[in-house]
Amino acid sequence: MEKDTKSQFCDISNKDGCSSSEKTTEIDYTSHWDNAYSKTEINQLGWYEESPDVSLELIRECGLDSKAHILNVGAGATTLVDELQKLGYQNIIANDISPLALEKLKDRLGENKNKINWIVDDLIRPTKLETLDKVDLWHDRAVLHFFNKQEEQDTYFKLLKKLVKREGFAIIATFNLNGASKCSGLPVHRYNEQMLADKLGNDFELVKSFDYSYTMPSGGIRDYVYTLFKRVS
Ligand SMILES: C[S@@+](CC[C@H](N)C(=O)[O-])C[C@H]1O[C@@H](n2cnc3c(N)ncnc32)[C@H](O)[C@@H]1O
Repeated sequence: MEKDTKSQFCDISNKDGCSSSEKTTEIDYTSHWDNAYSKTEINQLGWYEESPDVSLELIRECGLDSKAHILNVGAGATTLVDELQKLGYQNIIANDISPLALEKLKDRLGENKNKINWIVDDLIRPTKLETLDKVDLWHDRAVLHFFNKQEEQDTYFKLLKKLVKREGFAIIATFNLNGASKCSGLPVHRYNEQMLADKLGNDFELVKSFDYSYTMPSGGIRDYVYTLFKRVS
């Protein structure tokens, strides 16, 4: 039976998210995110970064060589992929649940799109991601906080632990405890560095963390915590 998708979506232009009369269960997340990327120009999205400087600085601190495997989860149409290519990284993997978001990124990259490994897959119901070889870096900006259920978080961290090699790194940037309670019309689960360290367990060491206030294209502020972990065992 075909789903009535319209009634399942939040109005993503409403910063405060869904009204109580709208369904928040059984959302078709692929359609939700495709809709977000089709309704709004990339550079007007509430998470757009003209230059992903904070991520780039943390990646620089990892000291990876140009052949390192870098997995950008929930990449959307991020400019981070463009910048990593400019820096010479040759093994970039871009994942998202939204095929449209990745198509937009491909369009922007032009011929360079052929040098990226594209993976449309759901981080909390992974199939293709499960079969990836281990990576040197897992990078997540503004994705983890959409996973509100314990089992979704468990699946996310299980996948991360499966994929990040020993001596590899995980960068997780997520709304902090002062952050907004919704993003793109969806409720979010907020973190501090200790909560993320607890999720990752003893195999990962916290190298660095800091709060960061991001200014959206609309001028509004979103409070993030950025964390860099190293896998030590
Ligand atoms: C707020 S955007 C951030 C995009 C990008 N990381 C950036 O910083 O510009 C969240 C992204 O996560 C993706 N996403 C949401 N749920 C996902 C899931 N379950 N699996 C993979 N990607 C997901 C969305 O499609 C969207 O591109």
